[in-house]
Amino acid sequence: MSFIPHDSLICPIDDLPLQYRDGSLSCPSGHQYDIGKPGYANLLSVQHKRSKAPGDSKDMVRARNAFLAKGYYEPIANRLAQLLEHIAGDELTVVDAGCGEGYYLEAIDSLPGKQLHLVGFDISKWAIQRAARRCAATWLVASNKRVPLADESADVVLDMFGFPDFDSFQRILKTNGRLFCVTPAAQHLIELRKIIYPHVKQTSGRDYPAPFTLVSRETLTYGLTLVQQDLDNLLAMTPHLYRAPKEGLARLKNLKQLEITVDINIDELRLHF
Ligand SMILES: C[S@@+](CC[C@H](N)C(=O)[O-])C[C@H]1O[C@@H](n2cnc3c(N)ncnc32)[C@H](O)[C@@H]1O
Ligand SMILES: [Zn+2]
Repeated sequence: MSFIPHDSLICPIDDLPLQYRDGSLSCPSGHQYDIGKPGYANLLSVQHKRSKAPGDSKDMVRARNAFLAKGYYEPIANRLAQLLEHIAGDELTVVDAGCGEGYYLEAIDSLPGKQLHLVGFDISKWAIQRAARRCAATWLVASNKRVPLADESADVVLDMFGFPDFDSFQRILKTNGRLFCVTPAAQHLIELRKIIYPHVKQTSGRDYPAPFTLVSRETLTYGLTLVQQDLDNLLAMTPHLYRAPKEGLARLKNLKQLEITVDINIDELRLHF
């Protein structure tokens, strides 16, 4: 596990700075957090847990890992890398909030001409255990509602298909920092949704609270051919598996393959812009 500089990690209980000593992180009040193998810290304090194992389950994480390993979302990762490459400054602290099993941070790991300090956190310990095997970064089990990072410590916050907490993002971003949100656009996985639901809900672009200002929205749209195993994984990594009616899931199970549309918005936001 690598650590971000300048005492940027803070205790999730009392916000005091965390110091690394003898294999664990501790704050001046004596709260102590272990560094687990393969190199991540669990900063989710018991009082901030709503359930014993919050976030994505082991099976959801495995399914997402298998799906993403096939490169189906590589165009999204590549575009994100291009956008980050154009941000001024040689040194950037990039925080992936709700990073899942770390796919996007690994994809932007080495941007030409930039020294990156990568921080990935997720409320699911299964996700972070997988992420920590990917690349050197500060990997944390932590929640968006209580981000264990100091005020104004991030140049970039990423929210990739996540559950954003805009107050937290505002607090950890530097004044001239940027937030990138990737969300499903109207046609995202439309073919799959038409099969599993009797009525397909229309999705529209996300609105953002002040002081965030949307400075650009680009839509990335492309097609994929997915075989049964991919469809199983895609279902298992989304809430559709629990939301869709049984008959809909059975219809999907009968397909050998499906052409689907990926349609996502990449939104760039600034504070007080
Ligand atoms: C749809 S997945 C996206 C994962 C990853 N960003 C990706 O695109 O591959 C949403 C992730 O948010 C995590 N999550 C849910 N609630 C969270 C919270 N309050 N704080 C941080 N992560 C959370 C889940 O565990 C899950 O890994
Ligand atoms: Zn503390």
